[in-house]
Amino acid sequence: MVKANLIGVVLLMEVILRFGVDGLSMQYYMMSCPFADPIIKNTVNNALQADPTLAAALVRMHFHDCFIEGCDGSVLIDSTKDNTAEKDSPANLSLRGYEVIDDAKEQLEQQCPGVVSCADIIAMAARDAVFWTGGPYYEIAKGRKDGRRSKIEDTINLPFPTFNASELIRQFGQHGLTAQDMVALSGAHTLGVSRCASFKSRLSNVDPTLDSDFAKTLSKTCSAGDNAEQPFDATRNTFDNFYFYALQRKSGVLFSDQTLYTSPRTRNLVNGYAMNQAMFFLDFQQAMVKMSLLDVKEGNKGEVRGNCRKIN
Ligand code: HEM
Ligand SMILES: *[C@@H]1O[C@H](CO)[C@@H](O)[C@H](O)[C@H]1NC(C)=O
Ligand SMILES: *[C@@H]1O[C@H](CO)[C@@H](O)[C@H](O)[C@H]1NC(C)=O
Repeated sequence: MVKANLIGVVLLMEVILRFGVDGLSMQYYMMSCPFADPIIKNTVNNALQADPTLAAALVRMHFHDCFIEGCDGSVLIDSTKDNTAEKDSPANLSLRGYEVIDDAKEQLEQQCPGVVSCADIIAMAARDAVFWTGGPYYEIAKGRKDGRRSKIEDTINLPFPTFNASELIRQFGQHGLTAQDMVALSGAHTLGVSRCASFKSRLSNVDPTLDSDFAKTLSKTCSAGDNAEQPFDATRNTFDNFYFYALQRKSGVLFSDQTLYTSPRTRNLVNGYAMNQAMFFLDFQQAMVKMSLLDVKEGNKGEVRGNCRKIN
């Protein structure tokens, strides 16, 4: 345990050095808002107790935030009459959980006004959601500033569920993430659901990578319409490696899930994570730490929003 933690810390330091985000630190709020961590954790835990499906939503929100404009809270901005924000893209694809972030932010503003960024709140909330559902706990550095740009057209840079493994590897690579990071991060699909709209194109012609019984399950889900929900694996609110078992059985929900097993470039990683959950957890937490540092804004490159839905 101690050894695993030590490895984690060393790796994190490496990541921080390599990405050059020296404005961030583990103790960023130690003096300015010492209860930031427990406030966020309690808020997330209370919300998840009431609705466990929000864990998936918080983890996905962090991913969408970091892939567009860096981890800067841009995903939280509401549209105004002059600006259509990321949130209103069809690619917001049913993002939820905004009220959990708002709730944490309100409490933090009472305790230490103008100190804790919305970007940090999302990153910490995602971490706490992973742990709450049974996944690994990982420390993250804090000090991200909130961005001032959130534009619907930027969401074109999110990966499509129709991407094949090469396209996924390429796109994650543009963010400095390896194929291994990409497969581990896709393991976040151990939580949550997809709506029919995101996979129904797989059902219109014979897809040899899709198990025929599972194809019937998907068709049945879709008979209830585009918004009908299909869990990614058998345990939608538990963070485990069942997602990777599903891929081995040709029962991945999205084309972009199944392609990780179909493609010889990533199949061994899927098999490894299916066989060894501890290895999945370790690679996942390292990849999450890396993702949480994408294009982070420091100093006067950003601000600390007073309200996560509006730039100051
Ligand atoms: C590899 C490329 C990825 C693609 C193409 C992709 C695509 C999708 C799609 C289409 C959905 C379903 C949306 C809907 O129909 O409502 C979804 C859900 C989800 N994604 Fe991903 N995703 C990817 C990677 C990730 C990563 C890296 C994470 C987090 C680390 C993540 C976390 C989630 C979660 C937790 C859900 C379930 C949300 C819920 O139940 O509310 N995904 N993803
Ligand atoms: C997502 O975008 C759609 C429009 O494409 C909008 O109707 C919906 O309210 C948005 N969802 C959220 C949670 O902002
Ligand atoms: C993946 O998709 C790209 C772009 O559509 C295509 O050029 C490539 O051949 C595909 N790769 C495989 C292995 O199917």
